[in-house]
Amino acid sequence: MSKWRLLVTGSSGLIGSEAVQFFDRQGHHVVGVDNNMRREFFGPAGDTTWNLERLKKATSRFEHRDLDIRDRARIFALFQEFRFDAILHCAAQPSHDKAKEIPLVDFEVNAVGTANLLEAMRQFCPEARMVFLSTNKVYGDAPNEKALKELPKRYDYAKSVDWNGISEECRIDRTTHSIFGASKVAADVLAQEYGRYFGLNVGVFRGGCLTGPNHSGVQLHGFLSYLVKVAMAGETYTVFGYQGKQVRDNIHSFDVVRAAEEFFLNPRPGEVYNIGGGRENSVSILEAFDQIEQATGKKVRWEYRDEARKGDHICYISDLRKLRAHFPGWSISRDLGSILQEMIGAERGLKAV
Ligand SMILES: NC(=O)c1ccc[n+]([C@@H]2O[C@H](COP(=O)([O-])OP(=O)(O)OC[C@H]3O[C@@H](n4cnc5c(N)ncnc54)[C@H](O)[C@@H]3O)[C@@H](O)[C@H]2O)c1
Repeated sequence: MSKWRLLVTGSSGLIGSEAVQFFDRQGHHVVGVDNNMRREFFGPAGDTTWNLERLKKATSRFEHRDLDIRDRARIFALFQEFRFDAILHCAAQPSHDKAKEIPLVDFEVNAVGTANLLEAMRQFCPEARMVFLSTNKVYGDAPNEKALKELPKRYDYAKSVDWNGISEECRIDRTTHSIFGASKVAADVLAQEYGRYFGLNVGVFRGGCLTGPNHSGVQLHGFLSYLVKVAMAGETYTVFGYQGKQVRDNIHSFDVVRAAEEFFLNPRPGEVYNIGGGRENSVSILEAFDQIEQATGKKVRWEYRDEARKGDHICYISDLRKLRAHFPGWSISRDLGSILQEMIGAERGLKAV
C-alpha cells in the first residue's frame, strides 16, 4: 500500500478529525463519513460543524460525505465506489450516560453501524485493514474488583502486580457495562469475529480517555476537554462520587491515530488492544484540577455530588504492554502536561490548524 484510499468514520469527531489530517498530510486519499450526529446526542455544544470546516481548509485531498453509518444501502454503495485499502471506524454514540436515554439508537449506531461497515468491507474490499475504536467500558465495572488503596488525591491499585493497569485479560461479561458498554461489546466481539472467523485484517482498540484539542467536549463525554472548557470559562464542574479521586488515563488523539497507522502497516486479524495514556498519563479529577490551576493560574470551581455514575471506573489505567510489544515503533508522544497546555491554548482561541 503506497497511497491508500482510506475511510474515516466519525471524521468530524475527536479521533476521526485527527486521522483525516494525519493521513491527508501523508498524501493518502481520505474519505470521511460523519452526519454530525454528535449534535443530536449532546445539543449545540456537541456540534462538530466547526471541525469539518477546519478540516476542509487544512487538507488537500479530503472528501467528506454526510452519511449515516446505520444506512446500510448507502454505506455499501460507498464501499463499492471506493473499495478502501484502510478503514478507521470512529463514528459512535460515545457516551456512557447518554445511552440510557436512547438505548435503541445507541445500539443501532454502535452495534448495527459497526456490523454494516464490517460486512461492507467483507463484500467489497476484503483485503483492506480496519481498526475499530472500542472502549474500556467493555470490561464493565470488573476493573473495580482490583484491590485499591485510597491516597490523599487519588485511588490507586493496592498490589504491585497491578501497577501497569488493566490488561486485555480482564473479563468482559458478568459485569455492569452501562447500555453504552453493552452496545460496544456487541460491536467489539463482532469485529473480533470478522478477524478470527473470516480472517479479515480487523483490529480492536479499547480506549481509555481519548483526548485532544479537537474534541467538542460536553458534560456527558470528553473528560479533560470538558473540564478544561469549564475551568477556563470560570464555570462550575460537577464531580460525581469517589471524592474526585477516580483515576483516568489520557491519551492524545495523535497517539491513537499513530497506533492505527501501525496496525494498518502490520495488521493482526482479530487482535484486541487496550489503548490509553498508561500510568504516566493517568490522573485523578482532583489532580487534574491542580494541574489546570497551575497551568492557567485560575482556581477551578467545582461542586460534589455523592453519587457515582453507574458502572463508572474507580481507577482505570490501560496496560499498554501488548500494544507496545506488537508495535515497537509506537509510543506515547505527548505527556499529560503538554496535552493540557495544548487544550488550554485551543480554548484560548489558538486552535492549531
Ligand atoms: N473520547 C473518548 O474518551 C473515548 C474513550 C473510549 C473510546 N472511545 C471511542 O472512540 C471512538 C471515537 O470517539 P470520539 O471521542 O472521537 O467521539 P466523537 O463523538 O468526538 O466523534 C464521533 C463522531 O461520529 C459521528 N457520528 C455519530 N453517529 C454517527 C452516525 N450514525 N453516522 C455517521 N457519523 C456519526 C459524530 O457526529 C461525531 O463527529 C468512538 O467509537 C468512541 O466510543 C472514545
